[in-house]
Amino acid sequence: MDLLVVGGSGLLGREIVTQAGPGAAATYHSSPPDAPDRHRLDLRDRHRLDIRDRAAVAELVDRLQPRLIINAAYRQHDWAITADGAMHVAAAAARTGARLVHVSSDAIFSGNATTYDERSTPDPTTPYGAAKAAAELAIRGLLPDAVIARTSLIIGEGEVAHVRNVRQRVLFTDDIRLPIHVADLAAALLELGRGQHTGIHHVAGADAISRYELARLICRRDGLDETTLHPGLRAETGPPGPLDLRLDCAWTQERLSVRLRGAREFLARPDPAVAPPVPDAASVPRPSHPR
Ligand SMILES: NC(=O)c1ccc[n+]([C@@H]2O[C@H](COP(=O)([O-])OP(=O)(O)OC[C@H]3O[C@@H](n4cnc5c(N)ncnc54)[C@H](OP(=O)(O)O)[C@@H]3O)[C@@H](O)[C@H]2O)c1
Repeated sequence: MDLLVVGGSGLLGREIVTQAGPGAAATYHSSPPDAPDRHRLDLRDRHRLDIRDRAAVAELVDRLQPRLIINAAYRQHDWAITADGAMHVAAAAARTGARLVHVSSDAIFSGNATTYDERSTPDPTTPYGAAKAAAELAIRGLLPDAVIARTSLIIGEGEVAHVRNVRQRVLFTDDIRLPIHVADLAAALLELGRGQHTGIHHVAGADAISRYELARLICRRDGLDETTLHPGLRAETGPPGPLDLRLDCAWTQERLSVRLRGAREFLARPDPAVAPPVPDAASVPRPSHPR
């Protein structure tokens, strides 16, 4: 088998499966993929899996023998899933010789520094960030050649719908992230997994923007009334956690042919007069090295 997407029923996992096409299998935990299958997955290629169960993870990976595993499974408030589960996936990959791309998060950082590159030391300030940092450590110990891809706020159509629904709530102007489009992230992860890349990579969007700015962009694109948005300060009202988190993705972007667009670009109102960009077939990605 070519690819196993662990967490294939989630926002990111579904997009990876869709882009990967035939030869991919996916796991789900509580949400079996819809029928009819929009993601071109045969029923036989969907597997119920609880990654907290070390033996079940090992059994599935042994049986499927995937060449590449992309792990996008997590639960924000569950250490056993986010940390132990990630370790179980890495252990299974190490035993079978599969390549592993593990999806990590900017939440491993506090936000106290201006930006963070791939060599920065994790300093998480939330239980979620600590679980993601622990997962990274376990993976690096078990499988030094694994790719650990840290990302920021993932934007898909669900997030856009969310903004439509939260316009009466406060949207923070001091909560800064590098939003990435789910399609760009999925393409980058597949490229990292199918190439010779190893080690930590930062994969986020090109624009640092606040949740409020993000909502304004969505309103403008979709013709919604942006005066109904309510700006506010997260520093004053919470929730606790990093305010301004910026991953420096320059080193990784140099090594990828996928371009990591910023939110101002992927949420721009499409100009009907402009033809869609033609992919640059001549671009050859440079291999990367562990950091
Ligand atoms: N979303 C963001 O803005 C963001 C930002 C930074 C980093 N990330 C990282 O990106 C990755 C993907 O995020 P996402 O937004 O796509 O997540 P998501 O939509 O919440 O999907 C999470 C996936 O994990 C699966 N899962 C949950 N509990 C499980 C368990 N016990 N055993 C096996 N699978 C389980 C879910 O399966 P069921 O749905 O079937 O239960 C689902 O497929 C995660 O690693 C996350 O830390 C996300």
